Amino acid sequence: MERGGRSRSGSPFPCCSRDDGAMAGLLALVAARLQPAFDRLEPGADPVLRPSGQPGVDFQANGALALAKRVGRPPADLAAEIVATASLGEICTKVEASPKGFVNLTLDDGWLAATLAATAADPRLGRCLAERSLTVVVDYSSPNLAKEMHAGHVRTTIIGDALCRLYADAGHRVIRENHVGDWGTQFGMLIEYLLESGDAGREALSLGDLEGFYRQARAAFDASEELQDRSRSRVVLLQSGDPDTVALWRQYVDLSVAHFTSVYHRLGVLLQPEDVVGESFYNDLLPVVVAELEDKGLLVESEGARCVFPPGFANREGQPLPLIVQKSDGGYNYATTDLAALRDRFGRLGADVAVYVVGAPQALHFQMVFAVGRLAGWIPEGKEPVHVMFGSMLGADRKMFKTRAGDVVKLAELVDEAVERAAAAVAAKSPDLPDGEAQVVAEAVGVGAVKYADLSTDRARDYVFDWDRMLAFDGNTAPYLQYAHARIRSIFRRAGLDAAGLLAGAAAPPVLASPAERDLAVALLDFDTAVAATIGTDSPHKLCSYLFDLAGVFTAFYESCPVLRAPAEVRDGRLLLCAHTAGVLSAGLGLLGITAPERM
Ligand code: ARG
Repeated sequence: MERGGRSRSGSPFPCCSRDDGAMAGLLALVAARLQPAFDRLEPGADPVLRPSGQPGVDFQANGALALAKRVGRPPADLAAEIVATASLGEICTKVEASPKGFVNLTLDDGWLAATLAATAADPRLGRCLAERSLTVVVDYSSPNLAKEMHAGHVRTTIIGDALCRLYADAGHRVIRENHVGDWGTQFGMLIEYLLESGDAGREALSLGDLEGFYRQARAAFDASEELQDRSRSRVVLLQSGDPDTVALWRQYVDLSVAHFTSVYHRLGVLLQPEDVVGESFYNDLLPVVVAELEDKGLLVESEGARCVFPPGFANREGQPLPLIVQKSDGGYNYATTDLAALRDRFGRLGADVAVYVVGAPQALHFQMVFAVGRLAGWIPEGKEPVHVMFGSMLGADRKMFKTRAGDVVKLAELVDEAVERAAAAVAAKSPDLPDGEAQVVAEAVGVGAVKYADLSTDRARDYVFDWDRMLAFDGNTAPYLQYAHARIRSIFRRAGLDAAGLLAGAAAPPVLASPAERDLAVALLDFDTAVAATIGTDSPHKLCSYLFDLAGVFTAFYESCPVLRAPAEVRDGRLLLCAHTAGVLSAGLGLLGITAPERM
């Protein structure tokens, strides 16, 4: 494992480095033990350790194959040498070189059982802390305040929130920033309309009115040149700090933020009003940013606008591409604001990593902003901005997700519908839940289903929003995992046993007598590996896949190994496996921002 700013995967997040046994992920642990044998052949050579599909073999190291080409020796020779020199002592019962040059490893049952017991007793269930705690600024959700929050904000809000939880859990210091669009010409329009409709400064404007209000303002604006002129003058007043105008603007912003906050709360998203650091926050910094670019000789005048031409960016005709930072009318734009934000995050906030959870269409914008930020010296050496981009959310027709009437889907209504549908699904599946509890479960399942559907697809891809699929109790869905978790909890309830106590006091290692128990043990010990891979690539779907696989391995175990009816000598070990699985499922879902009810 590499030290310092970058880990091997290219991620700015350093992984953990412990080799003290119990708590590190199994794969990382075995890889670390193999490393010296590879280092002897070529310093830093990657063992390329993977889970093995072969029966009786847990892992295989494929690193000798690539190494063979580099050092010019037969892979089988290298593999044999690795087997001879690796110190896998108590960890493996069998280490073998295959004729093709793979190294096959079989873990020792006793060691596996002891490691599992120690991991079960760890409150973090094996997730290790980052080698170095970083300051991570995460820009996510970031809606435009002139509109009601809609389905287009789902992905950034859900992915960003899961990432914040994952980073914080790994020991990083997370600063959430909601870079809301609270500045610009549309606010001139809204304020003029507020004044005209007589709503200005009164309580009359309520949360629910926002969307209608915006639509009416828009329609009035489009219909009246006079209103357009007034709106433009109003923006100038706003941007120059006229107190009355600013007060009206504040009223509107506060109301919008209150609306977003209620939606976040309903979604179980961490963002709070104090995390709002909107575009307006950077207003005073914009001239400073442009002046610094000028001082550094980076500004070029082009058709009246002031631009920076970062090297390496060209349009289709091969012409250099400008990043415009000041328009010909003197106004600043989205890019200027993002440069100011970048400077603020690495400067004032001392970010080690600045993460931007924003859709893929803005990729070029961020590449150019980051490039200009580097040229300007606003990104210290070794620090890194990262654009965590994602694809679009599509409707069943594979077009932009819309209501049946063709309108944008409001986020609040989306959540309502999810919970309503979940309530029906839960009532059908578990008719005996008491009413109050059924409602809590429906809320967890509905919100969980929407979040999980989003998180479980590779974020780079577009994904199709499909109610039936996301709410199904089978397949890679939240309800499936929540149900698997609740079913395990019910084993303990039925037996009157306390799972937490069992985990904490895990003295006797389980007997891993059958292959299904052994598979489950290996899967449970992979939790840290899955979490590290998720953080290393900012890809929550990796954690989802892991949890889904784990639930499958558990089902296979549960089908072939009786638990409560098992003979005394294996019963406790199996109960421990159950408690451990439930713990990993609920912790894993928790890292994704999804609650796992005790009962369903
Ligand atoms: N408000 C923007 C939009 O809705 C997203 C802002 C993303 N963050 C940023 N720093 N540019 O498109």
